[in-house]
Amino acid sequence: MTDTLTLLGIESSCDDTSAALVRQTGEAAPEILSNVVYGQTELHAAFGGVVPEIAARAHAEKLDLAVEEALKQANLGLKDIDAIAVTAGPGLIGGVISGVMCAKGLSAGLGLPLVGVNHLAGHALTPRLTDQTPFPYLMLLVSGGHCQFLIAHDAETFTRLGGTIDDAPGEAFDKTARLLGLAQPGGPSVEAEAKHGDPKRFAFPRPLLDRPGCDLSFSGLKTALLRARDEIIAQKGGLTPQDRADLCASFQEAVADVLAKKTARALALYQDEIPATPTLAVAGGVAANATIRGKLETVCAAQDVAFTAPPLALCTDNAAMIAYAGLARFKAGHTDDLSLIARPRWPLDQKAPALLGGGKKGAKA
Ligand code: KG4
Ligand code: ZN
Repeated sequence: MTDTLTLLGIESSCDDTSAALVRQTGEAAPEILSNVVYGQTELHAAFGGVVPEIAARAHAEKLDLAVEEALKQANLGLKDIDAIAVTAGPGLIGGVISGVMCAKGLSAGLGLPLVGVNHLAGHALTPRLTDQTPFPYLMLLVSGGHCQFLIAHDAETFTRLGGTIDDAPGEAFDKTARLLGLAQPGGPSVEAEAKHGDPKRFAFPRPLLDRPGCDLSFSGLKTALLRARDEIIAQKGGLTPQDRADLCASFQEAVADVLAKKTARALALYQDEIPATPTLAVAGGVAANATIRGKLETVCAAQDVAFTAPPLALCTDNAAMIAYAGLARFKAGHTDDLSLIARPRWPLDQKAPALLGGGKKGAKA
């Protein structure tokens, strides 16, 4: 008997339809055999955010194709799968239901075990998938839909140290781009503009730094930017390219500053656990930002903590992380049956108080 397991993963909680195959033999490094992601950016472009009904319909149309393509790219057939892992929440409910129904159908039809996975566990365990990062590590999830600090103790135990109480940082970047007439997604556009700008010209607020703890807030920052923009327009009748660059640089500096300072606090709490190899792992689209990354690396170096960031394709939503998180659950003996339900909210740390934020990319658990 072999101890090799091959899991099919399915992800559809936001605006990416994804299917992947991940294989692991014993405790050896897991292998991503395929990871197919069909994005929906163009479907939502005209609406300035993800439209849940459009997303759900698009997932329903593309899920079968994604599974077929993932099998083809891995050179496998349905008979080679040992179990099916699916995101069962948190996320936009219509999309999550599409994925869960697809997984249930495959599970019932093929007689294979079904494993419901928390989407956030998928992100949080990615450093194990890519680098076998030893537990316990501190995870900072920063994307268009998520922003939280988590200590990953093992594959199923997480402590949330804090998170956003309103917008996620990626959302703030996207809104900033919209206010300044820059292209979406806003993060890369704002970062490109900021390269020519003065980060000190506008003294934007550093929300919640005056309060203890690791919670964050980004919606006030966006309002401050709007006010600064309107003041310039009132004075000069419009924005010069330099004004725009300075607004972007000052905004980016404020986000980076807040993330770095809150990370220092989270690291101090995490270090109380006395981990043998202290590590901060970051994931999410915002982690691609060079200024933010630079500041996080500096904070880690000051506290003698290793810094790791999975490759961008595995930081953003994908089914390989779901297959891997499902593999960990499956190995621990956890499976679900056809009563598995889709959950719009599903905090990873059940003991932590609920966060208030619920941004454009769905509920933040
Ligand atoms: O993780 P992701 O691809 O999707 C989810 O939110 O689930 O993250 C996308 C977010 C967008 O809001 C985008 O503007 C932001 O990440 N982003 C960035 C950068 N690249 C992407 N934010 C700041 N700087 C960047 N270079
Ligand atoms: Zn995500």
